Amino acid sequence: MPRTTFAGTGYYVPERVVTNEDLTRLMDTSDAWIVERTGIRERRWVSEGMSGAEMARRAADAALADAGLAPSDLDAIVLATVSPDHFAPGTGVFLQRELGVPGIPAIDVRAQCSGFVYGLAIADAFIRAGQYRTILLVGVEIQSTGIDVSTRGRDMAVLFGDGAGAAVLTASEDAARGVLSTHLHADGRFAEMLWVEFESSKHHPRISAEVIESGRQYPSMDGKEVFKHAVARMPEVVEEALAANGLHVRDIDLLVPHQANLRITQMVQRRLGLSDAQVVSNIHKFGNTTAATIPIALAEAVAEGRLREGNLLCLVAFGSGFTWGAALVRW
Ligand code: ACO
Repeated sequence: MPRTTFAGTGYYVPERVVTNEDLTRLMDTSDAWIVERTGIRERRWVSEGMSGAEMARRAADAALADAGLAPSDLDAIVLATVSPDHFAPGTGVFLQRELGVPGIPAIDVRAQCSGFVYGLAIADAFIRAGQYRTILLVGVEIQSTGIDVSTRGRDMAVLFGDGAGAAVLTASEDAARGVLSTHLHADGRFAEMLWVEFESSKHHPRISAEVIESGRQYPSMDGKEVFKHAVARMPEVVEEALAANGLHVRDIDLLVPHQANLRITQMVQRRLGLSDAQVVSNIHKFGNTTAATIPIALAEAVAEGRLREGNLLCLVAFGSGFTWGAALVRW
């Protein structure tokens, strides 16, 4: 059975840097509050004219160049996002058009912050089954156009950033390398703890002036509940993945966690007993870019030479749904 290997990684973030100081001009907040509670110092926001598909294409170009492949080598696209360019169709087809590869399937994954890990599990299943050999997996978000940047929305608005990360996955016959296993979970009992309620097709009409007035089209969350579940589920699923492969936490060379909040990452790191060198954190620069955080952090780690052939890489995510998951990869 073929194994899924990472042939190339890449990312793209918009040029526009938004510092915490910049946010103080929009809402009642402070650099000290944001840094202390989240670890975020700045994030990137798109400027008018930039789309998710365009950012995804730039990240994909970088990943394809890293892999030494061309768009025409791709058999399929899997794209994870919670902020599609349009309600329908999904951003995957717009990316496919940008890449100029009509005909290949484009699958959008809706698993919020866990989107990249869910997407990896889907791509890995296709590759193991022998259906496709080369898959482009992308996580991309434009959060900045969908948040309430007034004081009313400050608990959410300070967290999020925009960006895209990509990986080119290829089939390999080398049994010693590649994705070892993926482990996915969800618990819909907590769906409303972190969600975007509107625009909503179950409501007639889908959105109204009254809804817009109340701000229910913006993301909302119970921050403390999200925190509590994130710091429990992430170490748990890492342990589950290790146990499934007869491995131990000490075997992990690099953990790339979803970048939700520095305090969450630090607590996950502490609970697993990992050192700073074993855990990737770039939230201070980019904020929480939802489905894009893991592929951006992974591409950065690769570019910085933090992964060598044979290393054990663990990806772990937790997000709205709640959804969570982990993947173990022999690099
Ligand atoms: N600036 C200044 N003050 C703020 C801000 C802000 N941006 N946001 C909230 N506050 C205020 C609140 O209004 C509140 O004021 P009050 O005491 O007068 O009522 C005070 O700060 C404390 O608010 P809390 O919500 O209790 O703050 P908390 O310590 O819980 O921190 C935070 C909030 C950072 C969101 C925290 O709950 C958290 O880390 N949650 C995890 C959720 C998370 O990171 N989600 C990311 C997206 S989900 C994901 O990716 C998994």
